[in-house]
This record gives sequence, C-alpha cells and structure tokens, in this order.
Amino acid sequence: MSESTRPLLKARGLSVAFDGFMAIDGIDLSVPQGGLLGVAGTNGAGKSTLFAALAGQVTATQGEVEFAGHLITAKPPHQRARLGLARTFQVPREFASLSVLDNLRAAAPNAAHESLVAAWLGRSAARRADQALAERADEVLALTGLARVRDERAGALSGGQKKLLELARALMGRPQCILLDEPFAGVNPVLIEKLLEVLRTIHQQGIALVVIEHHLQALKSLVPRLVVMDQGQIIADGAPDQVLDDARVQAAYMGGVV
Ligand SMILES: Nc1ncnc2c1ncn2[C@@H]1O[C@H](COP(=O)(O)OP(=O)(O)OP(=O)(O)O)[C@@H](O)[C@H]1O
Ligand SMILES: [Mg+2]
Repeated sequence: MSESTRPLLKARGLSVAFDGFMAIDGIDLSVPQGGLLGVAGTNGAGKSTLFAALAGQVTATQGEVEFAGHLITAKPPHQRARLGLARTFQVPREFASLSVLDNLRAAAPNAAHESLVAAWLGRSAARRADQALAERADEVLALTGLARVRDERAGALSGGQKKLLELARALMGRPQCILLDEPFAGVNPVLIEKLLEVLRTIHQQGIALVVIEHHLQALKSLVPRLVVMDQGQIIADGAPDQVLDDARVQAAYMGGVV
C-alpha cells in the first residue's frame, strides 16, 4: 500500500568490478517510495554486491546511486543510513556478547552523533537522547516480537531470532527503505511466517522493502514485483509469476526454478 511512482532509490548504470571481474554490470533499478520488491537469482548472480553498492559497503566502479533526491554514490554507509537507507546482511552481524537491547541501542545510526551533541549540551539533553533511544528500542522490540528476549545475549538466539534482530537493528534509525539480504535463509517455517508478518506490517507503515531471497515461495507471497539477476545483470523485472515463466529466467536456473 501507499506505493507511489516517485522514485526513492535509483541505480543508474551501476557496476562493481573486483579485480576486473564484473560482479554487477550496468544495473538500472528504481524503487518507488513505499515500494516492495524481491530480488532473486542463482548463487553468485551479484545480488549481495548490488546491495553493497546501494548501501555503501563497496564503491561503485561506474554508475550512480540516488536516494531521496540525494546523489549518494560516494557517501559512506553511515551517511546513507542517516538519510534513511538501511540494510541487513546475509550472515547476521549481531554483537554476540551484548544483550538484544544493547544491540539495538548500538544500531541507531545517530547514536554516536547524538551522544556527542548531548555531551556538549549537557545532562538534560543526554537524558532526552537516551530516552528517545529507549522508546525507539521498545517500539522495535514490540514490532519484531523480540521483547521477550530483550535481555538475552544476542549470541544465544536461534538462527531465526538472529534474522529478526538483524531486521530490528535496521529499524532503529527509522529508515525509509530497508534492503534485506536473505531474511528467510536457515529460518524454520514457523518463524518465516512471523518474519513475513513483520515485513508486511513494516511495509504498511510506508517503509520501502527490497528483499533478496532464494526461498521463492515465501518471497512470492510477499512481493508484487520480482527482479531476477544473472551474471551481474537484471534479466527480468515484473510480476513474480510472469518473471519466473520468462525464458531467460528459466535458462538461468536451468529449468530448476520453483
Ligand atoms: N569482495 C569480493 N571480492 C571478490 N569477488 C567478490 C567479492 N564479493 C563478491 N564477489 C564475487 O562477485 C560475484 C557476485 O557475488 P554476490 O555475493 O554478489 O552474489 P549473490 O548473488 O549474493 O550470491 P548468493 O546467492 O550466493 O549470496 C561472485 O562471483 C562472488 O564470488
Ligand atoms: Mg548473496
């Protein structure tokens, strides 16, 4: 819902080369405000590299990335996060020895900045910043269903709970867009349903979601639009059933798709 045609995130001719190997090659992709789309493709197709180029973990060799009207191609990840572009990682990156709650506190993209400002402004400003952070953490814990485990060590969570925590960390900065890299990988079917429910709620709140996934059944139940990548390029983009029927997509999966 609330999907308009105004682009929020836009890649133009985006390429990333590793030692001359084109991991992504001339990607054009537009994600509207409040959009919801999936990204599929076989192992090594370039999906995670595309996210890394969009979110700033790798530098584009060519092309441009625009987000919320800003050209962000050369900006570091924390600046992109401050503009409202968040991502999760294929392998969860929680701080294992910290509690779930402290992982959330550490994930707020403005946390370091705010604590510096607060130190400068004095104790009452510091208290307000702390309170705002605590309130956001409570909201995110409730939204993701992690409230019960808020004081547990993140390293002790199940694989599925770690995926939820990865999403919760991305939510701390009140993003306009979240790039999710394989949120269902290694997650049991019950928790996949829970994750789908959380993602639908987040989308209903107007946050744009781009979801990389190999689990095509779960992905199809979530997204109205699917992009398929192969060898660093986008080979199909459209309604999931149509896209998965496409001859190039079938060939890329060697007929083994769904
Ligand atoms: N840092 C890197 N240095 C060198 N090559 C890399 C690097 N990161 C990715 N690659 C290569 O780029 C290609 C695309 O990798 P990427 O991780 O983007 O694929 P993917 O579509 O996410 O695959 P998967 O579904 O297995 O996660 C692969 O051939 C990979 O080996
Ligand atoms: Mg990947």
